[in-house]
Amino acid sequence: MESRSYNAAVEEIKSRCNIVDLIQPLVPLKRTGSNFKGCCPFHKEKTPSFVVSETRQTYHCFGCGEHGDAVGFVMKYYNKTFPEAVEQLAVQYGVEINTVYAQQGKRKEPYYEANRLAARFFFSAMATPGSRGFAYMANRGIEPQTLQKFGIGYADDQWTSLTDHLKENGITDDMMAELGLSSRSQKNGKLYDKFRERVIFPIINTQGKVIGFGGRIIGDGEPKYLNSPESLVFLKKQNLFGLNLTKSEIQKEGYAIMVEGYMDVVGLYQSGVKNVAASLGTALTEQQARLLSRYTKRVLLCYDADSAGIKAALRGVDVLRDAGLEVRVLHVDDGKDPDEYVRKHGKDDFIKLVDNRSLSDIDYKVALAAKQYDIQTTDGRISFFRSAAQILSRLEPIDREIYLKKVAEEYGFSEGALRSQARGANEILPAALAPASQSEDGTLPASNGASDGQILLEKTVIRLLMGNSSFYPEAAAKPQLIVTDPGRGIFEAFAHLYRPDAEFDVTDLKDRLTEGEMAYFDQILNTVLAGDDDRKAFDDCMRKLDNATRTKRIREISDILSMADPSADPVYLNDLAKELAELNQQNKR
Ligand code: UTP
Ligand code: MN
Repeated sequence: MESRSYNAAVEEIKSRCNIVDLIQPLVPLKRTGSNFKGCCPFHKEKTPSFVVSETRQTYHCFGCGEHGDAVGFVMKYYNKTFPEAVEQLAVQYGVEINTVYAQQGKRKEPYYEANRLAARFFFSAMATPGSRGFAYMANRGIEPQTLQKFGIGYADDQWTSLTDHLKENGITDDMMAELGLSSRSQKNGKLYDKFRERVIFPIINTQGKVIGFGGRIIGDGEPKYLNSPESLVFLKKQNLFGLNLTKSEIQKEGYAIMVEGYMDVVGLYQSGVKNVAASLGTALTEQQARLLSRYTKRVLLCYDADSAGIKAALRGVDVLRDAGLEVRVLHVDDGKDPDEYVRKHGKDDFIKLVDNRSLSDIDYKVALAAKQYDIQTTDGRISFFRSAAQILSRLEPIDREIYLKKVAEEYGFSEGALRSQARGANEILPAALAPASQSEDGTLPASNGASDGQILLEKTVIRLLMGNSSFYPEAAAKPQLIVTDPGRGIFEAFAHLYRPDAEFDVTDLKDRLTEGEMAYFDQILNTVLAGDDDRKAFDDCMRKLDNATRTKRIREISDILSMADPSADPVYLNDLAKELAELNQQNKR
């Protein structure tokens, strides 16, 4: 790739595209003076704070801090990488880009084709009389139409059925191996089938391409489910099982039911509950939340009732809320998972459970905390009180007020006391000292509730420090800059490696990072663009940070004051009013 021509193409795209025309069809905008305004698509809001500037060709949300240019908007809105966004815009505005990135789309086609061949092969084996896959699924109550609908197939117990078939159809050995359909034998170097004696669930993306497979063992054996490895076309974190079939049902019903397993999706779907999807054997990711939010803003997490399911729900709830989705949680009360429940009780009972027994994310967390402690004892009650305050402290002010009242009433706490505690829990801990919530596989930047704007700021500073270590002392003096767990890891590495007379070395730095931190770091180096004036960019970041800290506090105080009930502590309210006046004064300077 010649990078100059790529950059030139990007510039050409930017000059042809008017950001207002690009955004207008997706986000209704109204003209206000020289700008355009609408409701931000990146966070939940009722009053518009999303501003698009035609003269500057940028957008900026004053609510969540999200901002950027046309390419940035496409990345964020469609959940794309920089090159993917550029490619989409290039097509839209008729700019030719002849680069590896542009080739990547075409490069994927043969992989999709090989997967499609495999899916059809498995499916016809499923339909062959006497197939053990068919018998297994029949035994689990799955009807032929359902098999057909999902394209569920069968991998027989032979060693080279699929490999031979793919070979006959011109698929190369390398391709089969890369897609995880075949493996090379250690002994004789020959290829053999990876999926044997399994029911095969094809994983199909929302564009209808087969991207991978999940295979359930027939009978007992390990692993119970064998999944395709990640490949050029299969990124587990960015896809959901079933969504290709269910996205329109999700839109129609107005919410999505997220379940843990393939069979939960299939079982619910067959019973008539069709607005359902599953993450692919991993914890729910930010990208999956964003993918879902294209179809709905409301999600019901319906995970298994065991401790793993509860843990996954607790984590999922935060990921979804951070993506601006409204979340409820339900664990079925009979059977280990939704599939078993719906098989036994049917659709109507399941919907009744959804209507009557699901809890909002906050109620769910608080109820779990209440269960965790013995609230009959004083100590237990105090611990529970702290824990509830901690949960409430993470909420935006308005939500917090609503739940403060609700929780106080439900558990017999003084609302004022709970409010002070919740405020303390939020206020005193700077982000850098807040307890780290480690993600399971360590690769997911646990955002700790930080806005995308805050995360971008963190990333930009990391990017700038890599080019100019002399900014480090200033950055280190502002702990509120660090808002993600991997960001904290990277800053710890900076702290170790900082020398006033030397730049940071990428290799030294990486030696100190965990895998997850490294992924975050690489992502920053690959996606965050450094401008030409580092000093100015850095100063901008610091100023934004100060402003954001102040603005956040101003908004918080204003909300509390406007919603405070008459019984609230007058000294406390007075202190807040004073603080507010001071902050407003500083903002004027
Ligand atoms: P479960 O073990 O709960 O399976 O795993 P299940 O969906 O109830 O399966 P059945 O009903 O026994 O057939 C839930 C999900 O976790 C992933 C799969 O996506 C599975 O659907 N998983 C589980 C794996 O990827 N590998 C495994 O070995 C087990
Ligand atoms: Mn099951």
